Amino acid sequence: MDILGIETSCDETAASVVRRLPDGSGQIMSDVVLSQLDLHSAFGGVVPELAARSHVSTLDRLVNQALEESGVALADIDAVAVTSGPGLIGGLMVGLMTAKAIAMASGKPFIGINHLEGHALTARLTDNVAFPYLLLLVSGGHTQIVLVKGVNNYERWGTTIDDALGEAFDKTAKLLGLGYPGGPAVEQAALEGEPKRFRLPVPMRKDPRLDFSFSGLKTAVRQMAEEQAPLSQQTIADLCLAFQTSVTSSIDDRISMALERFSERFGAESKPALVVAGGVAANKAIRATLETRASKAGFQFIAPPLNLCTDNAVMIAWAGAERLAAGLPTDELDLAPRSRWPLDQTAKAVIGHGKRGAKA
Ligand code: KG4
Ligand code: ZN
Repeated sequence: MDILGIETSCDETAASVVRRLPDGSGQIMSDVVLSQLDLHSAFGGVVPELAARSHVSTLDRLVNQALEESGVALADIDAVAVTSGPGLIGGLMVGLMTAKAIAMASGKPFIGINHLEGHALTARLTDNVAFPYLLLLVSGGHTQIVLVKGVNNYERWGTTIDDALGEAFDKTAKLLGLGYPGGPAVEQAALEGEPKRFRLPVPMRKDPRLDFSFSGLKTAVRQMAEEQAPLSQQTIADLCLAFQTSVTSSIDDRISMALERFSERFGAESKPALVVAGGVAANKAIRATLETRASKAGFQFIAPPLNLCTDNAVMIAWAGAERLAAGLPTDELDLAPRSRWPLDQTAKAVIGHGKRGAKA
């Protein structure tokens, strides 16, 4: 089964062809990603209108490139899968219109994919993980602990009550005068940090709800930075390390509780797995903490390669393949984009002290 995937929900324009073999394994036939980083970096964040315009001007070419590189003719594609939410509405519309036009012109089935399902199922393509498994999704827009029970079958165990983790890294970097995206800049600066100089609180420690919160931490960094102004390079590095240490401890605390809960529920599971996905999964301190915690709890730790952790179309094509293989229905061509679309439709919204309230 060969699926064409398209992703335009944020600031990456991406197209890919993925093959699913009868034994359930997958093969990436092509993987084309155009990052808009240069377009947005001057603004310190993604500008939705610029993102949508850029998707419009580049997507056709990228889809052609993905088909050419895959060696699979459009006539031999089995379905067209596209991110239909959650994400920036302008970008979603560009991807949907393109995918619908291709599906209509070629007479192929059309599937709208939840972007989070793409992230959630990637580890099955890369590592053939069996259901159920525990997923930590940490990106610029999402911070969630999800029980992945099967295709289209998710339980959200925790989410952020304010900022997403990537967003917290980006805001911290901005207030310390580091570049965008902030995650890599904070991680880099933290390497030179003095471990004991600043101590920040560990958000949500021991809270039984398994949720996250990062906005208070960001405020604490701001206050410390104001007290220390003007900031030397060393102080910036020390603050970055304190922030990263606090974030890492919070993740460790939340995840260790989630692993315990997983073990209580699936005691007989022979090979339980913890999977991490999303751009923040690039952070080495966070990865190392998760790996240690997973191994202590007897879990296999799986982190897909970085290019498949950040936004891409491989995961969208693969999710389409998994959905078709599971016998789930395809979509009609009047499918609407959804800027908010929780993976677990039954999960209650959690509202914290963040201005924008609960994330999907
Ligand atoms: O998944 P992603 O590429 O895009 C979406 O948000 O969907 O994630 C981007 C986020 C940004 O907030 C970026 O600062 C963060 O991932 N990030 C990192 C690192 N690399 C990227 N955060 C911490 N440490 C890193 N090394
Ligand atoms: Zn993403």
